[in-house]
Amino acid sequence: MTQLSEFHRDRVRAVLKASPIVPVITIDDLDDAVPLCQALVVGGLKVLEITLRTGYGIKAIEQVRAAIPQVWVGAGTVTSIAQYRQVEAAGAQFVITPGVTEAMLEFGLTSEAPLLPGISTISEMMVGYNLGYREFKFFPAEVAGGIAALRAFGGPFPDVTFCPTGGIRQQTAGDYLALPNVGAVGGTWLTPEDVVAGKDWGAVTTIARESLAGL
Ligand code: 3PG
Repeated sequence: MTQLSEFHRDRVRAVLKASPIVPVITIDDLDDAVPLCQALVVGGLKVLEITLRTGYGIKAIEQVRAAIPQVWVGAGTVTSIAQYRQVEAAGAQFVITPGVTEAMLEFGLTSEAPLLPGISTISEMMVGYNLGYREFKFFPAEVAGGIAALRAFGGPFPDVTFCPTGGIRQQTAGDYLALPNVGAVGGTWLTPEDVVAGKDWGAVTTIARESLAGL
């Protein structure tokens, strides 16, 4: 069975090492993409996950990659191989999925952009583990057992690193990051809907800065 190469693993690890916090970004107005991401970067974040939850995701990835080349720009909420191909073509440097299918795990073995597969149980994780994956998104983290689950996962699988997302907030990010098997945490708390709708980029920078300072 083909296994994930060291090259792919190293690239996923590099993303998780680059920033302890990964903002999960949804673009409702394409004009917001660059200023919103710039505001997060000014606040100190170095990894951006732009989701495909709206029709602007792919264009936003393209624009942000061109405008802010010094940070990692990836795609989130990728749920099919067709989307995987589209985000790669748009320049996504990594791909995050909320869950896994075997076909996507296999596609990620040789894809241009490395895959951070989403799992919520050990059984799902083991499907990826057997293909060589050692880094996973844990989603939805709070609902699927949160810190206690991650601590338990570390018993049988001490060599696996997680990026929990789903229900994590500024106040709890540090508790997750204190676990030895958590590489980074993700969430939407960095981009509150009302703040983004009001285009208050200064407030976005402040949230990012305070979130990092509070770790
Ligand atoms: C994700 O896809 O990672 C989650 O939607 C983030 O969850 P949150 O909105 O609770 O941060």
